[in-house]
Amino acid sequence: MQIETPRLILRWLRANDLEDFLEYRSDPTVMRYQSMSPMTREEAVSFIRSQSGNSLDRIGGYQQLGVELKNEGKLIGDCALKRTTAQPRIAELGYTINRRFQGMGYATEAVGALAGLLFSKLDVHKVVALVDVRNPASFRVLEKLNFTREAHLRKSYFDDVDGDWFDEYWYGLLKEEWG
Ligand SMILES: CC(C)(COP(=O)(O)OP(=O)(O)OC[C@H]1O[C@@H](n2cnc3c(N)ncnc32)[C@H](O)[C@@H]1OP(=O)(O)O)[C@@H](O)C(=O)NCCC(=O)NCCS
Repeated sequence: MQIETPRLILRWLRANDLEDFLEYRSDPTVMRYQSMSPMTREEAVSFIRSQSGNSLDRIGGYQQLGVELKNEGKLIGDCALKRTTAQPRIAELGYTINRRFQGMGYATEAVGALAGLLFSKLDVHKVVALVDVRNPASFRVLEKLNFTREAHLRKSYFDDVDGDWFDEYWYGLLKEEWG
């Protein structure tokens, strides 16, 4: 499985992504508004290993697609994908980009390509994303892709760094709004 965009390749994570993966997944700034702590090397090894059975058809927990910079063959981030048995035609996405590569449109390019594939090939009806209200770079990515802010969820996620509950925005994009 491979999704190609002008500058990127989206594909499943591989064991030899470890150093690139750790570069951003161990960075506290990058992991700041995600419900995950920065990873140790051991955690990264086991995380990548846990992704070996991934498939776009799979319904269940989160799966991670690597975002590779085409020119350099370097992994610069990843996108999360989750579809549940309750409603497999609704997909939840997440995204993370290495700090050194942020602000260059890569998240927008990757999330746009993944949403496009879900709509066109996998019969997905709606793509959703949940974002900490303190994370404007993240909701800017969604708004550039025409997602609508559909809800403001009050104190709906626990931030381990601040040790408190924070609000999130719920964004959605319908198939008919895509493209
Ligand atoms: C959110 C994230 C994935 C964006 O990646 P990226 O590749 O830099 O995104 P893009 O370059 O495609 O777009 C970012 C947009 O946010 C804007 N932006 C960045 N920081 C911002 C800020 N503090 N306030 C407002 N807008 C901001 C950029 O200017 C850009 O918008 P523009 O194209 O209109 O100028 C990246 O910042 C990241 O990995 N953050 C840490 C992980 C994370 O928060 N993930 C999201 C969890 S839901």
